[in-house]
Amino acid sequence: MGASTVLDDMAHWFFMGALLGAMGCSYGAPEPVRFTGHDLSPSLMSAPSLDVSRLAKTDDCADCHADVASHWRQSAHANASFDNPWYRASVDQFRAERGKEESRFCAGCHDPLLLLSGDIDGGVKADNELAYAGITCLVCHNIDSTRSDGNASFTLSDAPILLPDPASPEEIEAHRTRLTMQPLRTAALCGSCHRSFSGTAIGNDNHLPGIDDLGDWASSAYAGAIQGHLTSVEENSCQGCHMRPVAASDAEMAGASDGMVSSHRWTASHTAMAAQLPDVKHAQQAKDELEGAVLVDVGAVRAGLRRYVLPHESRLRGGERLVFDVLLENVSTGHRFPGGVRDMHDVWVEVEVRDAAGKLLAVSLPGADDNDDVFVLRTTVLDAAANPEILHQVHRFSAPAFDRTLPAHDAQAVRYSMHLPRKLALPLQVDARLLHRKHSLLFQALACESSRTERGIGFAAGAEAHGKVALDPCLEQPVTEIGAARVWMGRGAAEQAPVGGAARPAIERLLTQALALLHAKQEHVHMAKPSIDRALRLAREAELPVLQAQALVLRARLSSMQGRPNEAVAFTQGAEALIGPNPVLDRIRGNAYARVWRWKQAAEAYRLVVDASPFDWRAWQDLARAYGSLSDDENALSAADAGLRLAPHDEGLLRSRALALGSLGWPDSALAKERWLAHRAPDAQPQLLSVCEKEHQRCRRDRQPIPHYTLLPPRKAIHASVDPG
Ligand code: HEC
Ligand code: HEC
Ligand code: HEC
Ligand code: HEC
Ligand code: HEC
Repeated sequence: MGASTVLDDMAHWFFMGALLGAMGCSYGAPEPVRFTGHDLSPSLMSAPSLDVSRLAKTDDCADCHADVASHWRQSAHANASFDNPWYRASVDQFRAERGKEESRFCAGCHDPLLLLSGDIDGGVKADNELAYAGITCLVCHNIDSTRSDGNASFTLSDAPILLPDPASPEEIEAHRTRLTMQPLRTAALCGSCHRSFSGTAIGNDNHLPGIDDLGDWASSAYAGAIQGHLTSVEENSCQGCHMRPVAASDAEMAGASDGMVSSHRWTASHTAMAAQLPDVKHAQQAKDELEGAVLVDVGAVRAGLRRYVLPHESRLRGGERLVFDVLLENVSTGHRFPGGVRDMHDVWVEVEVRDAAGKLLAVSLPGADDNDDVFVLRTTVLDAAANPEILHQVHRFSAPAFDRTLPAHDAQAVRYSMHLPRKLALPLQVDARLLHRKHSLLFQALACESSRTERGIGFAAGAEAHGKVALDPCLEQPVTEIGAARVWMGRGAAEQAPVGGAARPAIERLLTQALALLHAKQEHVHMAKPSIDRALRLAREAELPVLQAQALVLRARLSSMQGRPNEAVAFTQGAEALIGPNPVLDRIRGNAYARVWRWKQAAEAYRLVVDASPFDWRAWQDLARAYGSLSDDENALSAADAGLRLAPHDEGLLRSRALALGSLGWPDSALAKERWLAHRAPDAQPQLLSVCEKEHQRCRRDRQPIPHYTLLPPRKAIHASVDPG
């Protein structure tokens, strides 16, 4: 073992020398960079004293793991640091306005090696080796424990890394054991960086949750959690979906046994980066992953007095007002869509209405930036002046406004209306498309501008000197169609074949529609009833018990929302008779009782839910609240504690815990209360929201559970959509 480690160190010197040579630097042998224990906060990363240069080194891994290394080089993880021009523009702004030490927060996830070397506290110039390292092999493969907080809540190991003699089974085994420590195959590993929060530790006024792929996955059926409706989903983890096995070449030792290796591309939605990487497979895979992630349909058409029919059943007359919903259902993303940094993605809906002759009658505006007339799937956060913060300036985040991203397996409706012309050639053809671009055009402009400065040009040259691609944020971004539907309306519509999400059987379409309409405000939720009743009737006639049960569950939710728990329970019993006991039914019953303060029955139902999905922090939240309301403080406390182990910064759980400790009169209750209050939504939130509503159409509209958009005749729309830039 000793011999291998020594060799390892020698190879390391050689590598650093070669790299600096390639960069045209004239230093002698570089000093090895060590982390010796300086403060890493506000990042939550922790590490013993260790050799940072060793963590930076990936070429020796590449000698034996050629495929894995070549995937990784083209991944967002390898390009997460200052050579990534989108990130650099953003973090430089944060550092200029908030401070360099505060930017350790970003570095824990984006630049772990700059954090450990301490360089993040300084200027981070283009000649800094470590600014090109990204998230290396030995960051992930060196994590020996994780905590569920997020903000890089992992601990690195300092145990020596043995590079094996490929002829020695013992050495291979030791190597394998060392590099596959317990956290590696868990969602918690990914979650330590794919969950974030901002707060006073980075100089902001209040706590705000940020990225949370971990929590959104953990509370989805993919993680075995109990959702509010019946789904048939195969459980899968972050690695299962994002690191699928791919065929290995002969140069890849890890593929020796079965010819496959886990993909280290992590290809997802970064189409702007993928399009610039030399490996064309990467861009194709990014496109393939996005296509179909969300299903698009059009439903619930109302014209004149005829209500909530499917598009092909509608009867339209000239001069009438036509209202219909575009339905979006997250069918294959294991968390919210879009996930990750949900305030940054540009995902929008386009709608076009044509008459029978193909003449364009009305359109939603095309996706020009921050355009108030296009529905965008995004989280909106307000700054202190109540303006939507659209450039990811985390230091200016004051209060969350609304989240228009789609939870796993949930559906949303976006309502469109238009006036039909007097003379009308039927049937109408309606096209709805969901389009994706990685960054908003405004953010792209910011990154583009910063890449043209001396600093930007320096980093581009540095990237090339390191054998990397100099990513150019000014290039036009790919636009990907995630999903689409085409439907026909009015006389003659039934003869036309619908396309996309609209080509599904009527029952499925009605269930999507119902799921989406159940998000309406309580006084409007009855709109879901015609769709549910009809789906139920069709499923009964076709003798499809599973779909019938799905419809009954939605019917039960409707009764629950209308404050009729007995009716809701009766519907769940109907579903149970069809499919047997199912914790989803317990969850619906729990919610129905909780809504009318029947806490004892609610707690009993929620208990069954946590038994079925102990890793879903939202289930513990429900249970803790029910026990708390029963003044069963001991049980409330243990439920809250169980939830907080999974989601340590959740306001609801912290509240339940503080109240329980207060009632029990325990000494640490004051501290618990302080912690709860520190995680509460900011006091200014209602005020900021109301100002935003006055000043921004988007705040007024997108805050509504079902936002309403007016389609305009094409000429007007084109006039209004002139690109702001
Ligand atoms: C001298 C060749 C060699 C070098 C260098 C090397 N490995 Fe390996 N590695 C192997 C072999 C051989 C295996 C066992 C492959 C098998 O049997 O599937 C292995 C297995 C692994 C595994 C476990 C695979 C599994 O699921 O069981 C990991 C993780 C790994 N290596 C990471 C690394 C990293 C990170 C580096 C760089 C620090 C590295 N390796 C350097 C040869 C090497
Ligand atoms: C050390 C922190 C860290 C860890 C651990 C980590 N990630 Fe990431 N991940 C990031 C950062 C930072 C980015 C964004 C990089 C950028 O674009 O600047 C990212 C991006 C991604 C993306 C988007 C890629 C794209 O092309 O759109 C996926 C998918 C992803 N990670 C999955 C995972 C999975 C799965 C795991 C666990 C096996 C994981 N990550 C572990 C920090 C991390
Ligand atoms: C973002 C975290 C992350 C980074 C960075 C990373 N890996 Fe991995 N690696 C993983 C995870 C997670 C697994 C296990 C995947 C699974 O369970 O399918 C893995 C598996 C492997 C395996 C076993 C392959 C297999 O088929 O099971 C090897 C070998 C490996 N990694 C080598 C590397 C090398 C070499 C690098 C750098 C070039 C690297 N890894 C970078 C997270 C990472
Ligand atoms: C059931 C499969 C599945 C699981 C499980 C899953 N993801 Fe994803 N993920 C997707 C799909 C599909 C997308 C969206 C399409 C795309 O961008 O690839 C996505 C996108 C992403 C993105 C890019 C942001 C976006 O949504 O555009 C990140 C980052 C990510 N996932 C991280 C994770 C992490 C971390 C986990 C585990 C906590 C995880 N994913 C679990 C399927 C999955
Ligand atoms: C908890 C870990 C974490 C922290 C802390 C964090 N990020 Fe990120 N960041 C990520 C992940 C993960 C992604 C990729 C998500 C996705 O694909 O949507 C990302 C993506 C980004 C992107 C988009 C990059 C690209 O390639 O398009 C920017 C810009 C960014 N972060 C800036 C920052 C800044 C600035 C900070 C500090 C103020 C910061 N981040 C703090 C994890 C983190």
